[in-house]
Amino acid sequence: MTTGDLLRVPADDAELAVEVRGQGASVLFIHGFPFNRSMWRHQLAGLSRWKRIAFDLRGAGASSAPAGGYSMARYARDVVHVLDALELDRVVACGLSMGGYILFELLRRHPERVRAAVLCNTKAESDSPDARRGRDEMATLAEREGPAAVADRLLPRLLAPSTFAAHPEVVAQVREMIAGTPLPGLVGALRAMRDRPDSTATLGAIGVPVLVVAGEDDQIAPPGGMRALAQTIAGAQFALIPAAAHLAPLEQPLATSRVLADFLDGLG
Ligand code: MLT
Repeated sequence: MTTGDLLRVPADDAELAVEVRGQGASVLFIHGFPFNRSMWRHQLAGLSRWKRIAFDLRGAGASSAPAGGYSMARYARDVVHVLDALELDRVVACGLSMGGYILFELLRRHPERVRAAVLCNTKAESDSPDARRGRDEMATLAEREGPAAVADRLLPRLLAPSTFAAHPEVVAQVREMIAGTPLPGLVGALRAMRDRPDSTATLGAIGVPVLVVAGEDDQIAPPGGMRALAQTIAGAQFALIPAAAHLAPLEQPLATSRVLADFLDGLG
């Protein structure tokens, strides 16, 4: 296994594309919906004092996209497949939005594999009845018109006004990630999020250091809710990234990497 290579890790009925860079204490990045591991490209490039691991969830990026069977439990099992394949007992796990939902599941099922947790742009509550209906509507849109139509629907809420104004390359990357997501993976993730359990009770049981990262302009996981989430977790740190919305690691890569590096440094 060579550092920097894309590995193919078998995971039950799927095969996961895993990228590993560098040496040192291990940090595993879990992307959100409907993105892929390239949303962490700045952190993969920049956090050079740590071993950085990012993988495409089943149904995303260069991983295979089984026809069905998507759930938070399945995604969390896939994380364990990745850790086992890399022979890593424990990692700092960093999840954004749906990646955070997966991290909650991992903390419930396999807390021994998590040395510390970074919760970016996410929330602990399960979907309301309205939100569940919204998931079904989006799945129908994806099935009728394809992932590009989902990109058109989602994009306006994902990025900060300043990102739209000054960073067309970020807008283009996000559009490309969404439009390139395989349909089964996109619809599967929507059903998995619709049916995910509430993680509020998990927060009080977290026994590892936690950093909560919010985007100042995030409409999907607003900063007020993120701050409240941090206050519910014993000892959690909170960082607010200015001029960023739901994709702080891509919109403000330097500021996001800096708060991550400070947190990682503090772990010793
Ligand atoms: C994500 O970025 O993963 C999604 O916004 C999560 C969600 O829709 O709940």
